[in-house]
Amino acid sequence: MNTIVVYYSLNGNTKMVAEKIAERLGCETSRVTTKKKMPQGKAGQILKGALITLLKARPAIRFEKEISDYDHIIICTPIWAGTFTPAIRSFISLNDMREKKISMVSTFDGGPGRCFKALEEEIKPKEVIATLELKKPASDPELDSKIDSFVGEVKRKA
Ligand SMILES: Cc1cc2nc3c(=O)[nH]c(=O)nc-3n(C[C@H](O)[C@H](O)[C@H](O)COP(=O)(O)O)c2cc1C
Repeated sequence: MNTIVVYYSLNGNTKMVAEKIAERLGCETSRVTTKKKMPQGKAGQILKGALITLLKARPAIRFEKEISDYDHIIICTPIWAGTFTPAIRSFISLNDMREKKISMVSTFDGGPGRCFKALEEEIKPKEVIATLELKKPASDPELDSKIDSFVGEVKRKA
């Protein structure tokens, strides 16, 4: 399977996880960024981020690589307001993944919400290969072993 890790990360947690996964799989990453910057402060980020997530906004984005050459896409997103981020909603709108296999990874501080169910409904992929939910990954002593077992599952099914 030809795999790419696509991720959005505002404050670095999901970036760190996405890079670890890609390094262990020996595959490419593609970072999704919004054209308009989010506020710097935490309160501003929560207010704006939660609002645009609840409104199901699709902000203008950039991403580093096209996914046409890949048949397995690993989508990594922080949880905002209990679901996936607006930048990932935009990415899904711009990239038809109905013929792709996907895996899903989320990072969060409280709980994973209904992110994966919502992502699957939005993407309607051919198959879901593996999932990984990571609470506060930067301070999780078991992070590496969780990533190893996720990567192992991806490799087994590849
Ligand atoms: C706008 C916004 C909304 C958030 N909503 C939630 C939430 O509903 N549940 C939760 O557990 N964490 C929530 N968080 C925390 C993030 O999911 C968590 O810190 C995540 O790991 C950040 O990833 P990043 O560093 O890659 O941006 C929220 C953070 C932001 C900025």
